[in-house]
Amino acid sequence: MKTKTFLTGIKATGMPHLGNYVGAIRPAIQLAQENPESLCIYFIADYHALTSIRNPIQYREYVYEVAATWLACGLDPKRVVFYKQSDVPQIFELTWILACHTPKGDLNRAHAYKAAIQKNEEYNKKDLEHGINAGLYNYPVLMAADILLFDTSFVPVGKDQIQHVEMARSMAQRINQTYKECLVEPQEHIGKTPLISGLDGRKMSKSYENHIPLFCPEKRLKKLINKVKTDSSDPGEPKDTSDSIIYEIFQCFANPEEVKDLEKSYQEGISWGEAKALLFEKVNRELSPFREKYDYYMNHQDEMDQILENGSIRAKEIADKVLARVRESIIGF
Ligand code: TRP
Repeated sequence: MKTKTFLTGIKATGMPHLGNYVGAIRPAIQLAQENPESLCIYFIADYHALTSIRNPIQYREYVYEVAATWLACGLDPKRVVFYKQSDVPQIFELTWILACHTPKGDLNRAHAYKAAIQKNEEYNKKDLEHGINAGLYNYPVLMAADILLFDTSFVPVGKDQIQHVEMARSMAQRINQTYKECLVEPQEHIGKTPLISGLDGRKMSKSYENHIPLFCPEKRLKKLINKVKTDSSDPGEPKDTSDSIIYEIFQCFANPEEVKDLEKSYQEGISWGEAKALLFEKVNRELSPFREKYDYYMNHQDEMDQILENGSIRAKEIADKVLARVRESIIGF
């Protein structure tokens, strides 16, 4: 019997970026390596992407991009239960059960929904619900089902996902208080690495279009790093580390000694061009072996199909057990 279960997912809306890697993928893989006694469940949240994607070819491509990313970055499918959400229909049954126990007002307060409403306000839309589908509205319920269906104790996520885990926990608590206890109440597991900034200094995000795709070709990686915003200090002028995106990202890829060296170079007035070249070197050092594996998997999608299918079999075994317990407790069958 494994002691704790860690579960996390990545939404399939395109190739993950550097921020996803540093904030979610790398720590999750380390967690699996450092906690051999625990059960790790990492999945591709593909149906979550259906709130916005409207093209099956693109949908598939995004799923494979996320799958190849996990595998390239070192996820061991023998060690980790690895699957895509749409292969585990039990999740959607639990989604309905949870929805029937969730006050609608709680969903009104979810960040993503509120942000969509706010956007409509900014664009002076008459109908504030314009363009918001019920899937987006129910996103937190589906995510809670992802988590609760596997008796998850800890959910490794970035800070932006804390509200979702809190909502999952309160759904579990409400059900446990109303019926015979049947759900594990999960907690967020926040890594040490902060969310990193994108090219323009805002949080790196695909929706801001300020992101660096994790496995873009080397040349493009170099180009994008050259676009990172800096202040206007000239070569020779000392530079401030506390206000430097280059320094911030560098820290995530370099060892402490290399970081010290860069600090010294900043004091000595390294040019931004040189600093960017150093950053490229460190990022590329870590990513280039993964890039090769990524390309391999993208060219062998049948291998990924097999891996995901094997994972979904294990996932469904767990899901069936938990769902049976939940159904027994709530509907009596
Ligand atoms: N909402 C998460 C994101 O946007 C993805 C996700 C879906 C998830 N279900 C999850 C994360 C369950 C952790 C646990 O990235």
